[in-house]
Amino acid sequence: MNANNRAQLHKYEPPNWASSLNSIPKYFVKVRKLEFVLADALDKKCDTVITCGGLPSNHCRTTAVAAKQLGLNCYLLLRSSDQKTVNVGCKGNLLLSRMAGSNIILVPELKYKSGLKPMMEKVAEKLRQQGSAPYLVEVGGSSYTGLFGYLTAFQEMMDQNLLEDFDDIVLTVGSGGTAAGIAIANYLTGSKLK
Ligand SMILES: Cc1ncc(COP(=O)(O)O)c(C=O)c1O
Repeated sequence: MNANNRAQLHKYEPPNWASSLNSIPKYFVKVRKLEFVLADALDKKCDTVITCGGLPSNHCRTTAVAAKQLGLNCYLLLRSSDQKTVNVGCKGNLLLSRMAGSNIILVPELKYKSGLKPMMEKVAEKLRQQGSAPYLVEVGGSSYTGLFGYLTAFQEMMDQNLLEDFDDIVLTVGSGGTAAGIAIANYLTGSKLK
């Protein structure tokens, strides 16, 4: 791992309303869920990240770019009905992920997203045998650590007095980490929003 990697970590202090949570991350770096997930990878002295998603995944593209900027190797397990790399083309997020130098592994469409975890473990094991220190990033970066990215987002909205004018927060849900982070922040701050 690049010796300067850890220099990119910023010390994290949670807002007062989140200070009673368990396992508060020590550091952050980059964007939202990945701020905390990739900081954890660097703090644990990992040199490689492995994550997964659909072929056009925004999360995978963001991980690929952020990993490159942090000096980490990146493996992306992308669900695809076509297993031939030449057939899936090279456009949109897939192009950006490739440009960031990530290693693309195509995996068959699975009924359950959880089925991707054993596949990531397998890739990790192979990398460990080759002397790498891999870090597994949950689908969408939606781990306990990752949701702190959306506690921060909630605090930013509070600081900008954005929430005062609204009754509801409406958000998109993929892997659920965004919704979990916002819902927990909404509860812990005593916000009256739905
Ligand atoms: C642009 C965009 N917004 C929101 C989401 C949902 O985020 P999450 O995976 O945390 O539910 C995703 C991912 O699916 C996304 O790509």
